[in-house]
Amino acid sequence: MEPAKAASPNVPADLAAFPRCDEVPAWSALRAHYVAGGQAFDLRQAFAGDPGRFEAFSQDAPHVFADLSRNRIDAGTERLLLQLAEQCRVDEQRNAMFAGAKVNGTEGRAVMHWLLRYPAPGAESTAGWTPTGLDALTAERADVAATLEAMLAYAERVRADDTITDVVNIGIGGSDLGPQMATLALARFAKPGLRLHFVSNVDGHELDGVLQGLDPQRTLFLVASKTFTTLETMMNARSARDWFLARGGKDTARHFAALTTNVAAAREFGITTTFGFWDWVGGRYSLWSAIGLPLAIAIGGANFRALLAGAHAMDAHFATAPLARNLPLRLALIDVWYRNFHGFASRGLAPYHSGLRRLPAYLQQLEMESNGKRVDRQGRVLPHATSPVLWGEPGTNGQHAFFQMIHQGSDVVPMEFVAVAEAAHHLPGHQQALLANVLAQAQALMQGREDAGGHRHFPGNRPSTLLLLERLDPASLGALIALQEHRVFCSGALWGVNSFDQWGVELGKVLAKDITERLSSGETGGLDGATAAWVARLARQSGA
Ligand code: F6P
Repeated sequence: MEPAKAASPNVPADLAAFPRCDEVPAWSALRAHYVAGGQAFDLRQAFAGDPGRFEAFSQDAPHVFADLSRNRIDAGTERLLLQLAEQCRVDEQRNAMFAGAKVNGTEGRAVMHWLLRYPAPGAESTAGWTPTGLDALTAERADVAATLEAMLAYAERVRADDTITDVVNIGIGGSDLGPQMATLALARFAKPGLRLHFVSNVDGHELDGVLQGLDPQRTLFLVASKTFTTLETMMNARSARDWFLARGGKDTARHFAALTTNVAAAREFGITTTFGFWDWVGGRYSLWSAIGLPLAIAIGGANFRALLAGAHAMDAHFATAPLARNLPLRLALIDVWYRNFHGFASRGLAPYHSGLRRLPAYLQQLEMESNGKRVDRQGRVLPHATSPVLWGEPGTNGQHAFFQMIHQGSDVVPMEFVAVAEAAHHLPGHQQALLANVLAQAQALMQGREDAGGHRHFPGNRPSTLLLLERLDPASLGALIALQEHRVFCSGALWGVNSFDQWGVELGKVLAKDITERLSSGETGGLDGATAAWVARLARQSGA
């Protein structure tokens, strides 16, 4: 199917037409604001001088309450940041995405992961939002709905089949991180006794470790790859198939399914059960597509639909909330303020729920593969920094590891805490201890400690954002992820990069192919000195 055309003449399909952040007047106004007071901004003084600060800098969005009050911004900063968004016409850029325009210019593709969570044709939006131009996407909507039905019906069949005890998802990047993160997060909604495994690394130890103890007749392999060409996934899939056949496995049609936009390649590989998706779904945005099948098998169709509905509610918020109360945009503006004016090079992420332990890895791909770019949409080298390094670990574990640096290190690292109000367990005391810790960390970062000098001194004034979910369930997880997707869209739109390509991963892939051959042959001709030395050293040892 052809990607959708821009539905309205008012929506430029070519996003290169939009100004970059550094090209609009608000950019220099922000620079002046930073020099005049932003640089020396003190959170403690800001709270002391404004009893309404918490209310002014916190807000509800679907399924998420956000406290932005401990960020180094005041009303003046936010006003200028909003002017920046207006002058870069972020709202028009957003509308272009929601109209099906080819906003992924370098690949000539539309960007419509949001359509995967839009209700089927004939059904009303559960959030009361109808994008302009939706009528032009009727065929895509129908395809999405039909694929979702087929995939969820299949998921229910697998769940009902007690002879299948293990499901192995073979995929990498977006074909691994999303379903893996979400399956862990929603483990309490999963079918008891059904084991989900995720194999991504080309390192054979990973697949070998999973295969040990599996019974081929009780195992379903899902080969997840948007392109169906990714080296790691293809190698793991071939090895899994060889293992299956060597152990007497029968009926590959029943024990292998493929999730891919390249159904022809999957069939050629020998997999006849396939669930497709489309080139307008980026790999790191594909959890909502057939790539979500392992999750759907774990939690069932109704819960998967609740995940989609939660994300849809956040889509509607992003599409319709006024810019000043638009949470994805507000988060992105703070990201730009920190990255480009304060010069903070990284952001820490600490989820205070062990179910969200893979959220940092998932968001690393989302943010850094999307916005880790050094040229704009026209290929011109940017004069400003883009994606920060995103990193993190669940609290409270991180507190006993790297938080030392967050509190007293020489770099300021804005922290993002994700907490969940209600626990799903009944162990006394744990939830209060957990919540007390997240509040204490945010408090310690901001307040610091003046009463002790030297090694015991905490400078304070260290920023943090706190996102709160009432409970961790499919709908709130969907909303949280969609929030992060749209935030990345907004910062990419401001920076002027194409957030939807990933050319930076290509070179290593090409070189690895060449080096793989050289490790067999020992041939080092034409290589640089370091690579040649390593090939000579490792050749022939590495074939196992
Ligand atoms: O190499 C990067 C990348 O293309 C990611 O963007 C993608 O999520 C991952 O590889 C896996 O790709 P595929 O789903 O096509 O196997």
